[in-house]
Amino acid sequence: MDEAALRAQLAALGASLFARGYSVGTAGNISVRLPDGFLMTPTNSCLGRLEPARISKLAPDFSYVSGDKPSKEVFMHRAVLMARPDAGAVVHLHSTHATAIACLAAPGESAPIPPLTPYFVMRVGRNLPVIRYYRPGDGAMENDIHEAAKTAKAVLLANHGPVVSGRTLEDAVHAAEELEEAARLALLLRGAGARSLTPAQVDDLLSTFG
Ligand code: 13P
Repeated sequence: MDEAALRAQLAALGASLFARGYSVGTAGNISVRLPDGFLMTPTNSCLGRLEPARISKLAPDFSYVSGDKPSKEVFMHRAVLMARPDAGAVVHLHSTHATAIACLAAPGESAPIPPLTPYFVMRVGRNLPVIRYYRPGDGAMENDIHEAAKTAKAVLLANHGPVVSGRTLEDAVHAAEELEEAARLALLLRGAGARSLTPAQVDDLLSTFG
């Protein structure tokens, strides 16, 4: 897909996430890897109303090239994109249920959501590290996220929200949706003794679809 098509896809997927309540106000940001750098949603932009031509463009070293001023979370995205060379996109949301889990889970935990259903395991994997709280836009978060992302497609930022990568932009959005859904189920079933998938069932999913 060329850059113009990716810009249009980013605006369309942002609008879809916003319309379904995965993002409110100006929360959340999305980056996409290009052959000559990265696209990044502008700071203080609403994911529901992105204008393709105004989306920020960054050079391969993440310096500013063009468009509106990029998200203050460039460090967060750089942490994941550098740790995962196979990742084509990163989606950061403050989606309600994943963020609720990010408020309940202890920093350092690696599986704050149980493997209740196959699609969570298939899209997000076994490992969902919880990163300690940092102020939004604080560059100090980069190293913790970078280290965690080496072995995890997604991380949860304590008291903030999920950061999810995917091979393509569509994959990253789908994984962010599955993560939100898994968090909702986990909260719905908290304390109810729900049956999780067994380690063998998780292994089977990851070896088949991972
Ligand atoms: P930006 O508006 O700078 O992208 O920040 C929004 C956000 O989600 C902070 O975590």
